[in-house]
Amino acid sequence: MTLRVGIIGCGGISHAHVRGWSAIPSKARVVAVADVSQPNAERVSAMVDGARIFGDYNDLLASGDVDAVDICLPHHLHKAAIVAAAGAGKNVMCEKPLCLTLAEADEIRQAVESSGVTFMSAHNQVFLPTVAAAKELLGDGLLGQIYKVYSSDCFVHPQTKLSDEEKKTVGRTWRSSKETMGGGELIDTGYHPTYRLLYLAGSEPVEVVAQTARFRLHHWEEEDTAEVMLRFAPADPHPESFEVLQQALGELETAPACTVEALGFRLLWQLVSILGFAPSVDACVIDGTPLPDSGSLPFSTRDGGALCASCAIQRGATHLPERDRADLVSLLDPAAPIPSLDARHGAAHRRLLARYIRYHLGEGASLPALEFWMERPWAAA
Ligand SMILES: NC(=O)c1ccc[n+]([C@@H]2O[C@H](COP(=O)([O-])OP(=O)(O)OC[C@H]3O[C@@H](n4cnc5c(N)ncnc54)[C@H](O)[C@@H]3O)[C@@H](O)[C@H]2O)c1
Ligand SMILES: [Zn+2]
Repeated sequence: MTLRVGIIGCGGISHAHVRGWSAIPSKARVVAVADVSQPNAERVSAMVDGARIFGDYNDLLASGDVDAVDICLPHHLHKAAIVAAAGAGKNVMCEKPLCLTLAEADEIRQAVESSGVTFMSAHNQVFLPTVAAAKELLGDGLLGQIYKVYSSDCFVHPQTKLSDEEKKTVGRTWRSSKETMGGGELIDTGYHPTYRLLYLAGSEPVEVVAQTARFRLHHWEEEDTAEVMLRFAPADPHPESFEVLQQALGELETAPACTVEALGFRLLWQLVSILGFAPSVDACVIDGTPLPDSGSLPFSTRDGGALCASCAIQRGATHLPERDRADLVSLLDPAAPIPSLDARHGAAHRRLLARYIRYHLGEGASLPALEFWMERPWAAA
């Protein structure tokens, strides 16, 4: 199926869009254009062998001619056009910026979600080969820990070449007015380095400082220059631990009452393991010596698992009886059946786990949740 595309707004950038669509004729075809300027619409229509021309984009949306629209309007018109297109069931690509305010962004989200159409903001620079390669390098971890990311754009604006007289006449466009531009250069050209930065940093900003200035485009209402500095949230060190915890709570909720305690042990050991402290039970944690398949084991919380006989003599260890060892092995293996633990054995496993967690994860802090779990007030009397 070839996507039938309508261009809404046939000014400067729409020509680049039309060249893009024309490069993939087997996938998409521009069949309609809309602009309040007849000459602009005709120029774009001529680029695609005479696409149907509309003076009002609402007529284009109602025509049934198109499956998707590509919006290239001035900034203050983005929101209304996106909402109208989504309402008409058309998939939408819209030029940057998304819109002018957070309230407009909410309206767009609502319209897109309730209509179920596909929406894309034209963040074209994330597809630049250099940016894509940078993203890959960052994702590979090849560059190690990243502390700073710079993203900038700097160019001689065509309007700086206008004479003072021209600035007052042809220089007055929707870009020179705050109301139609939504700001100055930061929301226009500055939008590209901004989404590039967010894309490459891959984290949420938590603090922002900015300064703007106007050096050359004095006929604009807002800035022609801007610097923005963001502080990003620290990277989540263990995104998987959150998932395991969430899954664990779900499992506990539906587990039969008689297995809840042992299942709790298993899930806690799983968290301990994900945080990098899985106890060793089949090889000596010090020198890797394989341990006998059965029988009791010397176990060292401090060293993080079972020890071979000679390490146990040198380092000292407590004694993990054969039955508790077998149960621990099943608790550590999510694929093994959940062991049934009587009160005495349950208490032994609880003590082992608590000691292990305090030593490896507690770092001297008080762990009220662990104490509560140890005391089991819900099981009393
Ligand atoms: N991604 C990029 O690199 C890039 C580059 C330039 C522009 N842009 C973006 O593209 C959009 C358009 O910018 P431009 O430079 O093409 O502007 P432009 O002024 O050249 O074109 C805007 C067009 O919209 C038409 N228009 C105005 N009101 C209309 C309405 N109510 N209904 C239909 N048509 C209407 C105008 O007649 C004009 O043809 C902006 O969002 C801009 O930020 C993006
Ligand atoms: Zn050893």
